[in-house]
Amino acid sequence: MAETINVVAIAGSLRKASINRGLVRAAAKADVPGIHVEPIDLIDVPLYNGDVEDVGDPPAVVELKTRIKEADGVLLATPEYNRGMPGVLKNALDWASRQPQQALRGKPFALMGATPGGFGTRASQFQVHQILGNPGSRVLPKPELWVSGASERFDEAGNLTDETTRTHIAELLAAFRDWIVATRSA
Ligand SMILES: Cc1cc2nc3c(=O)[nH]c(=O)nc-3n(C[C@H](O)[C@H](O)[C@H](O)COP(=O)(O)O)c2cc1C
Repeated sequence: MAETINVVAIAGSLRKASINRGLVRAAAKADVPGIHVEPIDLIDVPLYNGDVEDVGDPPAVVELKTRIKEADGVLLATPEYNRGMPGVLKNALDWASRQPQQALRGKPFALMGATPGGFGTRASQFQVHQILGNPGSRVLPKPELWVSGASERFDEAGNLTDETTRTHIAELLAAFRDWIVATRSA
């Protein structure tokens, strides 16, 4: 493959043992040709505050926007809270959508998410998809990766232990890589 697609991966959870951070780690370790995944941590990103923004983006926000802007695409791993996306992720996307350095316009995104419940973060992912429409991001239509029954698929530290899910992550990354390349040259 001629080029490597560089993707940043963001989990919408700050928990050390987060299963969605576990999904991101698994994606970063996946050995898929032509795509490289680097995690971004949201732990230092403050709550959005227009007064703070007026005097200049905080360093963690500058880093978030710069890394998204420089990446070929963004892979999100979203938990589901009360049938929606968590505030941690919404907050990060809100910062990233703002000038200077609006980082989301035209940016390719792929979505995944894990839950101990039975519906695999569908509701949360639908909401993320909808929200990304406003800043003009593009979202990979298929495959969708909804990981349910997490207690069977992750250990207590949030590390992925399930080979089927690992295969699905690799399939998602391969599709994301191909879609970024195809839509770029279209
Ligand atoms: C406030 C709150 C609301 C939640 N609501 C949902 C929900 O609507 N659907 C779901 O599948 N899980 C729900 N959960 C359970 C989360 O899926 C679970 O805590 C998961 O481990 C969070 O992701 P993380 O491990 O990456 O932090 C909720 C958890 C919290 C804390």
